[in-house]
Amino acid sequence: MSKFKILTALIALSFFYACGNKQTSAPGTSGEAPGTKTETSTTDYDPKRGVGKFNESNLTLDAALNVPMAEAGEKASGVKCTSCHKLTEERLVGPGWKGVTQRRTPSWIMNFITNPEPMIDKDPELQAQLELCLVRMPNQSLTEEDARNILEFMRKNDGVK
Ligand code: HEC
Repeated sequence: MSKFKILTALIALSFFYACGNKQTSAPGTSGEAPGTKTETSTTDYDPKRGVGKFNESNLTLDAALNVPMAEAGEKASGVKCTSCHKLTEERLVGPGWKGVTQRRTPSWIMNFITNPEPMIDKDPELQAQLELCLVRMPNQSLTEEDARNILEFMRKNDGVK
């Protein structure tokens, strides 16, 4: 049994070193935009919505794809996202995007991609992804418009027409 314990510890340690690049945000980079309320409660995390300003009442999606938005989103993600995310199910640095709009709600995606930090610490599935290693997804300083366009592109990638 102690052998097992040592092995477990070694494995944990090697993971720690392999991916132990825990991001510490540089001073001044995590400042909130004026008028943004920071939610600090850890007890009532809503896994359907995440943490942030987006929810079902301020985020509306049409059943049909908005083609120009999806095209703009494809461009934006080519600049800021696809170095870490493939469009398939395959993991690169982060999880592949195929199916993400089924796994996650639109509000969750909007909240996460505009401000990942507070959610990584609270979302059980993000914690699990973090354990698979690699890095914490860095804040990509997306504008709301970019984020919304990228969401539309993700829907296109998941087959919305
Ligand atoms: C440096 C690599 C990196 C970049 C760049 C990056 N991500 Fe991520 N992303 C990650 C990692 C790693 C995760 C897994 C969660 C975690 O550990 O933080 C993730 C998770 C996600 C998820 C959740 C996926 C799921 O299946 O639950 C979404 C959505 C996402 N990223 C969108 C984006 C968008 C949009 C961009 C560009 C604006 C982007 N990412 C840029 C690394 C990255």
